[in-house]
Amino acid sequence: MDQQFAKDVAEGLSASPKKLSSKYFYDEEGDRIFQAIMAMPEYYLTRSEFEILETNKKLLLDLFRNGSGRFNLIEFGAGDGLKTKILLRYFTEQGTDFQYIPIDISGNVLNLLVSDLEQALPELQVEPMQDDYFKALSRLKETSDRRNVVLFLGSNIGNFNEAQAISFLTKLGENLSKGDILLVGFDLKKDPERIRDAYNDKTGITRAFNLNLLNRINKELGGEFNPDKFQHYQMYDPVSGEARSFLISRQQQEVKIKALEQSFRFEAWEPVHVEISRKYDIPAIEKYAKESGFAVKQYFYDCRHFYVNALFQKK
Ligand code: AVJ
Repeated sequence: MDQQFAKDVAEGLSASPKKLSSKYFYDEEGDRIFQAIMAMPEYYLTRSEFEILETNKKLLLDLFRNGSGRFNLIEFGAGDGLKTKILLRYFTEQGTDFQYIPIDISGNVLNLLVSDLEQALPELQVEPMQDDYFKALSRLKETSDRRNVVLFLGSNIGNFNEAQAISFLTKLGENLSKGDILLVGFDLKKDPERIRDAYNDKTGITRAFNLNLLNRINKELGGEFNPDKFQHYQMYDPVSGEARSFLISRQQQEVKIKALEQSFRFEAWEPVHVEISRKYDIPAIEKYAKESGFAVKQYFYDCRHFYVNALFQKK
């Protein structure tokens, strides 16, 4: 049993208001549903970022190389690497001297990615690191003399609130050297209806994604949740830019979780907060960079300006 998961579930369901962390969405089933989300027409984020990387791959290579040539291309939370493959393929074709270092805490995800890349790009040097992001980075800082280029794509940063994001970026920067590069994907503020549709698709894929968290608790912690007794609810606040997802108890109920030797009471219509997916504007991004010790070098937009990849450089 995953002790941290057990502890976080116990704490989250005892808190008021109740909460569970979206980082636990991604078990094998969750990874699979997330693939389906990325393929939905409503989930514009993936296609926007794809377009940005495809359009700017040459420029990005020049910026990453910065004359001297050799660099480590480090990716946080690589997932299936579909978007990154655009860069990896192009960089390899150009005979670039670099190695690709995907970092993930899930060994399962890394193994799949590595075997896929061995097939698709046999010449590519891949050095996966199964570790905590920062531990892996600090090891690289000590052992490698190459320039480090970190990718943090997919608007994964949006799962953090502002304080968490700034502390994450600050810690990241502390494990980089002056001049190192960070490319971050930010989903931008836009028509609020479009944002809601992206997290509240009519086919119910996002609903299944969020409810899978209860199935995971059932599987791994002996929970007795009946997912039908919970409802997926999504809202977007255009002021803060926070899209928030909740699981809402449709009735008063008590749910036992065997591994915790505890039951949790839910009132009728009581919410459990599960995810925040923040949307940004440029001033918010500049604030993040400034407060975490980076300079913004360049912004790359898709043609609809739905999304931006910001190139940060460590000061
Ligand atoms: C993978 C965290 C970027 O917040 O947009 C997609 C996860 N949640 N649909 C996001 C997600 C619901 C996604 N991130």
